[in-house]
Amino acid sequence: MTFKKLNHPLMHNNFSKEDVNQVIKFLKGNKNKILTQSKKVKEFEEKWSKWLGSKYSVFVNSGSSANLLTILALKIIYGKGEIIVPSLTWISDIASVIQNDFKPVFVDINPRNLCMDEDQIIKKINKKTKAVFISHIQGFNGLSKKLIKILKDKDIVLLEDVCESHGATFNKKKLGTYGLMSNFSFYYAHHMSTIEGGMICTNNKKIYELIRMLRSHGMLRETENKKYEKQVIKKYPHLSPKFIFLYPAYNLRNNEISAVIGINQLKRLDKNNKVRIDNFNFFLKHINRDIYETDFDVKGSCNYAFPLILKRKNFKTRDILETKMRKCGIEFRRGNAGGGNQLRQPYLRSVVKKVKLADFQNVEHVHFFGYYIGNYPTLTKTKILKICKILNEIE
Ligand SMILES: Cc1ncc(COP(=O)(O)O)c(C=O)c1O
Repeated sequence: MTFKKLNHPLMHNNFSKEDVNQVIKFLKGNKNKILTQSKKVKEFEEKWSKWLGSKYSVFVNSGSSANLLTILALKIIYGKGEIIVPSLTWISDIASVIQNDFKPVFVDINPRNLCMDEDQIIKKINKKTKAVFISHIQGFNGLSKKLIKILKDKDIVLLEDVCESHGATFNKKKLGTYGLMSNFSFYYAHHMSTIEGGMICTNNKKIYELIRMLRSHGMLRETENKKYEKQVIKKYPHLSPKFIFLYPAYNLRNNEISAVIGINQLKRLDKNNKVRIDNFNFFLKHINRDIYETDFDVKGSCNYAFPLILKRKNFKTRDILETKMRKCGIEFRRGNAGGGNQLRQPYLRSVVKKVKLADFQNVEHVHFFGYYIGNYPTLTKTKILKICKILNEIE
């Protein structure tokens, strides 16, 4: 059989000519320029906070760094315990939990939004639960009024990973404004890019100050609270005031060039997201609903990818689909976010000793029969029709 090659990458042109021009303009500007974290980083953080509707933002060098600092800040403020985590997410959402000595407690996913199963979260809450670290998967909203209320009533911290869902909303408010802290990623494949990059957002000034210090070697001088800085300097008269390290931390900062790109990309994020939402609905209309899952909870969603999940558990069909996508130039990832069921990954073998995979049926299905393909803003309706035609002819 011959296949017509169709170039459909996971992401396309997420770095525009205008981004390049802005970088050149910035570099050609004032002499004596600081390229490490400085004024442009601050400007990007302020613009991002305004766009999101959150008080404070801290720009870091990746979404994974955002995950790490969020969980470290949680440990410093709340102490250790259990964190309820998704079985479908990125590795750093779990690695950050383990490396900070929390116990990860896994839940299955809801097949309608690929996010954490709400009933399982509620069942797994106990006295040791410190937080629920939700991942809004591939543009879907994973929150509900019920979940938010229960966490509030039980005084359990909500943390949001919005790395895959910039601009998606719940109850008309952007995701990332509900949690005590929220994380974003600006990796190339996401809604917008700063080459590499991430953001931590919060409305809590104390947490903001803490994260600023944790981002920069745990150094006191990173705080914007001058009264606090003076107090600490006074407390340690034998230390150089500019070199007081309060926490055993690292350098997770980003730089001015990435901030310039971020500021420019942010200008077109909403416009691009509208195209993504429109294209997503067009995919849903034209993909064969007998072969693929289409019953998604799309309210408030904003997907940079299209989840292609086979309804039937048939390995032969799966092989045909993969062969066809490869031959037709449709780039794909099996397992949706982060390669499917995290509980199957080797890095967890020494952490989660006994896994009953039968309790994780929904993520298991996505692990073996779920994919995502690109849904980038330059994608045309004509191309979507061609893609759907190819995908619909596998049975
Ligand atoms: C849900 C989620 N969290 C965190 C990350 C990590 O982001 P980064 O690649 O910027 O480190 C990713 C990465 O793709 C992700 O999908």
